[in-house]
Amino acid sequence: MAQFRLPANSVVKQGKTYAAPPGAKRSKKFVVYRYDPDSEANPRLDTFEVDLDDCGPMVLDALIKIKSEFDPTLAFRRSCREAICGSCAMNINGGNTIACTKKIEDTQGDAVKIYPLPHMSVIKDLVTDFTHFFAQYASVRPWLRTQTPPPPDRERLQSPAERAAFDDNERCILCACCSSSCPSYWWNSDRYLGPAILLLAHRFIADSRDEATGERLDELEDPYKLYRCHTIMNCTATCPKGINPAKAIGKIKELIAARHV
Ligand code: SF4
Ligand code: F3S
Ligand code: FES
Repeated sequence: MAQFRLPANSVVKQGKTYAAPPGAKRSKKFVVYRYDPDSEANPRLDTFEVDLDDCGPMVLDALIKIKSEFDPTLAFRRSCREAICGSCAMNINGGNTIACTKKIEDTQGDAVKIYPLPHMSVIKDLVTDFTHFFAQYASVRPWLRTQTPPPPDRERLQSPAERAAFDDNERCILCACCSSSCPSYWWNSDRYLGPAILLLAHRFIADSRDEATGERLDELEDPYKLYRCHTIMNCTATCPKGINPAKAIGKIKELIAARHV
């Protein structure tokens, strides 16, 4: 399927406008990025005026209403509607977030502008291609690596304090809001792993049951995979789950530095 990557300086032209139903007393405009890989047309921005008195409170509710009542061809991902699956990540009024927990009443201005996650290839409308992102996730081998056999009669035990060492990492829903907000990842995503994947690599480095810490640090000690993080902090500012990937990256760098002392 053809894919389109929006150049940073491109201007997307205005497309169709859909007015609110007659009689709507409280409406808001949603300006939505549209791209159809099966047409020869350039991307465009469609405007949908939604009756807020007949719509749920979240931006995702508005998108579902737009798809149901204005244009069934609008493509976006969603599943859980409660910040668990990570699939509704998109750029809303200039910030990356998940649409299912973004309140319409918290959006500023006359119109809510909705784009796909930046610097990812667009498959259709708000749907971006996660193939490379998930391949990078697989590359850090995100599972427990052990040499010793497990106890015969129970799980590998862990104290509450040991478990707390990766609590923050464990809440990540792999939405990619952080990675697609990181300028270093924009320019070097072919080799830089980006904040989300490094956060999840740290999840296993910090797990007391894992027995491959040295191997994991060896794999990350690379000028591109890890050290393209220049502490820009967009990742932490944008994470819709309130996670701090920059802190996890700092901890990996500290562990690697400690090996050289
Ligand atoms: Fe999404 Fe936050 Fe995980 Fe990044 S750290 S992938 S923004 S949940
Ligand atoms: Fe990027 Fe976050 Fe580092 S925005 S440069 S990964 S601190
Ligand atoms: Fe699952 Fe938004 S629909 S995180």
